[in-house]
Amino acid sequence: MGPWWFTACAIAAALAAALATPGAASPNNDSAVQRGLQLYAGAAPLQGTITGHAAPLPPGAARCINCHALGTAGPARAASAPSSFGPLITRERLTQRIARRGGPPSAYDETNFCRLLRTGIDPAYVLIPRDMPRYTLADADCRGLWLYLNSLP
Ligand code: HEC
Repeated sequence: MGPWWFTACAIAAALAAALATPGAASPNNDSAVQRGLQLYAGAAPLQGTITGHAAPLPPGAARCINCHALGTAGPARAASAPSSFGPLITRERLTQRIARRGGPPSAYDETNFCRLLRTGIDPAYVLIPRDMPRYTLADADCRGLWLYLNSLP
């Protein structure tokens, strides 16, 4: 056991690291991840529109898993991936710098992920096809989706 101030500093540093790390486990993030999963899988409603259509999609049609396989770790995911209409979205896919839709290599962060969902503009400023709906989303819901998808390997 070192001096008390050493222990205090160590605790403060650990806390600061936990707060600064995006996606780090904390009760707050856990509930955001849960919210993200609910939105992704359709247990909570999403408002999305196909570009060119005046009316929004019915919530049951707007949910992400209609087009993107439900990303679970392991064999279940591998089995569900090929039948997915849109790409399988995982942390790896989001955060690796890869060329998307003919643009230069780019990676997602929370800000440009939310911009994509709302406007269809991807991190390299390439417009995503209209098959992918545009969403009207609260910041907290977008964060939930981001944290949920980042919890998938
Ligand atoms: C109606 C089908 C459909 C729905 C619903 C849908 N997507 Fe997509 N999404 C697509 C398709 C198709 C693409 C691939 C577009 C392309 O690049 O050709 C895509 C692409 C994406 C990408 C870009 C991946 C990359 O590498 O750039 C992300 C991120 C994404 N979707 C997230 C979501 C999320 C989150 C939801 C729910 C809020 C959702 N999608 C709902 C069809 C859909």
